[in-house]
Amino acid sequence: MKYRIESLIDRQKVESRIKELAKEIEKDYAGEEVVCVGLLKGSVIFLSDLVKEIETPVIIDFMNVSSYGSETVSSGDVKILKDTDLDLRGKNVLIVEDIIDTGLTLEYVIDYFKKVKGVKTIKTCTLLSKPDRRRVQVDVDYIGFEVPDKFIIGYGLDYDQKYRNLPYIAVVIPE
Ligand code: PRP
Repeated sequence: MKYRIESLIDRQKVESRIKELAKEIEKDYAGEEVVCVGLLKGSVIFLSDLVKEIETPVIIDFMNVSSYGSETVSSGDVKILKDTDLDLRGKNVLIVEDIIDTGLTLEYVIDYFKKVKGVKTIKTCTLLSKPDRRRVQVDVDYIGFEVPDKFIIGYGLDYDQKYRNLPYIAVVIPE
């Protein structure tokens, strides 16, 4: 496919929004211990920028779940490819996502953390949200930006595994 890339949210806007989110998170947890769990791979860039702006110590862990396979549309069939390393029983967990689309991944992960991992509290933070695509209602506590239902790349989001390293948010436009 021939395509071009168009910037949607520039680097400066993304960086200053991440700082705002970090300050909100810092204030809300008010010194209470929090474990930030990034969902691989998309969240890695956002998570690393976010935690650097939080001035209280945070714990980091990762989980890898897959709902897409090679499809571009969510099948709703969520699989755990890598579980968290830490014991999260009784912990305050903040799930960190790059994007929430249908909400199916987050719905599954929230349920898993509550029922299987026995966490104390659970909150969710995403850099991007596509509200038009939502299929299930999920509570998202911190949202960087709402984006239109377009093919979004950059800042962790990929097109065929590429462009995750783009330091801004962009749209893929077929030509
Ligand atoms: C993407 C994204 C979310 C999920 C959102 O992950 O990082 O985890 O899809 O979609 P949903 O709200 O419809 O469930 P993907 O499976 O593409 O993996 P990646 O993070 O490795 O790119």
